Amino acid sequence: MLGIFEKIYGRTDEVAVASAPGRVNIIGEHTDYNEGFVLPTPISQQVFVACRKRGDSEVRLYAKDYGESYTFTLGRQVFSEERRWANYVMGVVDAMQRKGLHLGGVDLVIKGDVPQAAGLSSSAALEVATARALVELFDLKVTPVQLAYLGKSAENDFIGLQSGVMDQFCASLGKLGHALLIDCKTNKHRNVKIPEGYSFVAIHTGIRRKLDSSAYNERVQQCRAGVMALQRVNPKIQSLRDASLTDLVKASAGMSEVVYKRCRHVVLENERVLSATAALEINFPAKVGALMFESHKSLREDYDVSCPELDALVDKAFKTGYVLGARLTGAGWGGCTINLMPKSYVAEFVEEVPAWYARATGLVPEVYPV
Ligand code: GLA
Repeated sequence: MLGIFEKIYGRTDEVAVASAPGRVNIIGEHTDYNEGFVLPTPISQQVFVACRKRGDSEVRLYAKDYGESYTFTLGRQVFSEERRWANYVMGVVDAMQRKGLHLGGVDLVIKGDVPQAAGLSSSAALEVATARALVELFDLKVTPVQLAYLGKSAENDFIGLQSGVMDQFCASLGKLGHALLIDCKTNKHRNVKIPEGYSFVAIHTGIRRKLDSSAYNERVQQCRAGVMALQRVNPKIQSLRDASLTDLVKASAGMSEVVYKRCRHVVLENERVLSATAALEINFPAKVGALMFESHKSLREDYDVSCPELDALVDKAFKTGYVLGARLTGAGWGGCTINLMPKSYVAEFVEEVPAWYARATGLVPEVYPV
């Protein structure tokens, strides 16, 4: 990292370096922006950011992986599609300034190996690594939870994606080899050890997902519509997190069938997250796996965020007989599936499933052991 920094900016004294990992979500999809529960785990691929103060208000960026530079001046900025990766850094800088955190101009370098457009949260890793590096450089007082929310604010207020906090929370507080149970209402969280002898393997459909903000934001709106209908039968309900299946049935006459299905996914997915966490804690991976298959079915049928390639991979995983659970991970519409299996089967899975998938679809899958 310092070598690249020196090459671009000439010196490496007083440089702050930070990193943050990508993540896969084990279970708990589209629950975070409904104040629900999620259970992601960090992956070993990371984004690194190095930066040094300049003494003026220019922010100069260099992305090693693209060989591209971008410069802007501190102050009010707005999102621009063409700026691509630089938006995430600008979004974090913008969020920090709006929080009243005092920054100055910097020279900054980024590099990383988190697969992009794969549903493995490369953008959250970039946001958290940037915020961490700036916090260190300017000696700011920011807790790891606040750091996660700075990244979320970059997504919500700058990029325009109404996402929840799962990805940034996991990038900021996750521990390798552990799942991180997050209560997105209270920010309570705890690390849960992944049982010895079992592995999660992510496999990419080859469908490069540029997260479609409009389809994602539409799901957020549908959930809000559901909450409004629920409040008419139970005014105490603030978010789908507070609703039970019984509440939902009572309120169903006041919502469209689509909204009802979206809400049913969220209410039951929250229950699955808590059951899966308990199952991990009592070393019962077969139960975790069964819940993962159920989650996929619900994402496909009720939340409608799957695609034929994701479905094919989950189906194939089921048919191997040794994969305990599989589901799409991340927002959906492409990207990866996550598969749980005994460690002793990983080699067979990596040999068998991608080759089958390539033959069946003509697409080239990538495999990421987690
Ligand atoms: C994306 C968002 C997350 C979460 C997932 C779906 O990764 O960034 O906040 O909503 O989709 O679970």
